[in-house]
Amino acid sequence: MSVAAGTWPARVRRGAGRGRAWLALAGRGVVARWRGSLQIRVVTSALAFGVAALSGLGWFLSDRIADGLYEDRLSQILGDSASSTQQAQERFTASAGDRASVPDVERLLADVVGQLRVGGSGERRDVFLLAAPNQPSRTFANDQVTAADRVSLITSELRAQVRESDVQLWMPVGIPVDGEPPVPGVVVGSTVTVPTVGTYELYYLYDLSSEQQTLAFIQRVLLLGAVALVAVLGALTWLVTRTAVQPVRAAARVAERLADGLLSERMAVRGEDEMATLARSFNEMAESLQLQIHRMEDLSRLQRRFVSDVSHELKTPLTTIRMAAEILHSSRDRLDPAAARSAELLTAQLDRFEALLADLLEMSRFDAGAAMLDAERRDVREVVVGAVDQASALAASKGVWLSADLPAEQVIADVDPRRVERILRNLLVNAIEHAEGNPVEVTLAADENVLAIRVRDHGVGMTPEEAEHVFDRFWRADPARARTTGGTGLGLAISQEDARLHGGRLEVWSRPGLGASFLLTLPRRAGITIEASPLSLEPEEAPVPEPRVEEGAAAADPAAVPDLDRLEA
Ligand SMILES: Nc1ncnc2c1ncn2[C@@H]1O[C@H](COP(=O)(O)OP(=O)(O)O)[C@@H](O)[C@H]1O
Ligand SMILES: [Mg+2]
Repeated sequence: MSVAAGTWPARVRRGAGRGRAWLALAGRGVVARWRGSLQIRVVTSALAFGVAALSGLGWFLSDRIADGLYEDRLSQILGDSASSTQQAQERFTASAGDRASVPDVERLLADVVGQLRVGGSGERRDVFLLAAPNQPSRTFANDQVTAADRVSLITSELRAQVRESDVQLWMPVGIPVDGEPPVPGVVVGSTVTVPTVGTYELYYLYDLSSEQQTLAFIQRVLLLGAVALVAVLGALTWLVTRTAVQPVRAAARVAERLADGLLSERMAVRGEDEMATLARSFNEMAESLQLQIHRMEDLSRLQRRFVSDVSHELKTPLTTIRMAAEILHSSRDRLDPAAARSAELLTAQLDRFEALLADLLEMSRFDAGAAMLDAERRDVREVVVGAVDQASALAASKGVWLSADLPAEQVIADVDPRRVERILRNLLVNAIEHAEGNPVEVTLAADENVLAIRVRDHGVGMTPEEAEHVFDRFWRADPARARTTGGTGLGLAISQEDARLHGGRLEVWSRPGLGASFLLTLPRRAGITIEASPLSLEPEEAPVPEPRVEEGAAAADPAAVPDLDRLEA
């Protein structure tokens, strides 16, 4: 994820919000990566699953191992302490005769405790020999302990229970260590009887720190193993998904290039697996597509050739016919009325024929890619005025008011004036013919890079569905519509090609009864791409969304009503 360099200072100044904004940005980047890559998704899912499964297993294992370790150790401790207690009791019993004084007894007790300090398995433990309270004894000997500071670990509850029980009891304790957390230990207690002195409680304190160390070591090993396993799992899934995703990526790349028109692009076929099958099928598809497109291209090239050849071939006989018709036309006064009328019709239809042929030839020049832009620096206002002048005669004959709204200053642009004038002429003739006597407005506007010319009429108009087809060749909204000037149906198709040749565009808006608006947008210099037009295509006064017209219910459309009325009138 990248952060645009320019955004840093602003963010630093904002201070508090900066961290959160950056986090949100980073978060969005991560989400985009996650959604955009199948591989990342699979690997992270596998990792999450692996971590969950391994931590569950690790927890279970370490729990079982801890239990096993402590149980073993405890049974060993209990056996050890029982036999030690028995030995101590035996010594006390055996020495029943040779005690004379309290110091003698205390020496005996200290002696026994000293011996008990080392257990049966050679391990050191703390021993506490505590006199049971409230004894009706004449002799009293002090308690014997090996670690006075740890006597407090033996709670009075434990002592009471030990006195009452005739088996040994045990209790887990935490043995305090200076400046460190306490280490686990076990206190085992039972009673012994010292003849003539009384009952004593004998406790052993065992240290379990070595078990704890063992457990910690095992846990470390388990954790290390889990981390290694997760890493291996991640690497494996990454490798596996990469092998699966790479051919898909390759296919996407090739498909993109195919879509860009590089029809000979193919996928590499490796091996015999499913991926190879995918690549082979993909290539077969591309092959047949290429074949089909070539066939269609050939066909359309042939058709274009045919149209162009036919048009050229027709030119010569047409010239001859034209000359003959001229002669007939000029001598029509001497003909009988029926023949004179025919001569007039012939000339009129010849005009149309010539116009059609000229348009056909122009169209085939566009199709063959032979149309060239003959651009020059011109004030576009002049071009507009020229086209309006040419159309004014037709407008006058139709009773249509023609107005032009031009900027006060020059609109200099690199355009092909012949083509721009042809576009405008066609737009104006169309508008005047369909205006039904309403005014037609031409507007020119420009900004730094782009200029726009709009031709707006308020005549019959078209439905949006019809408007979609106005640039189609030979398309007419109503072929039966009375045509006086009589276009060829190629006018707007040629106009659009002319606009495209400039790197511009020609758009249409129209509604039945509200007229039509044609907007021509052209770059003022070569190399400028058009983003927005200085003029709007749709008129502001248009009623915004129309209710959708159901089939056969045209009258439900309010905009259509005045149009129908007017047509009937
Ligand atoms: N201003 C307009 N108002 C209504 N319909 C229009 C207008 N301009 C064009 N059209 C429709 O688009 C069709 C195609 O126009 P065009 O390509 O110029 O061919 P032509 O003018 O030779 O018929 C016209 O026949 C007409 O039905
Ligand atoms: Mg036309």
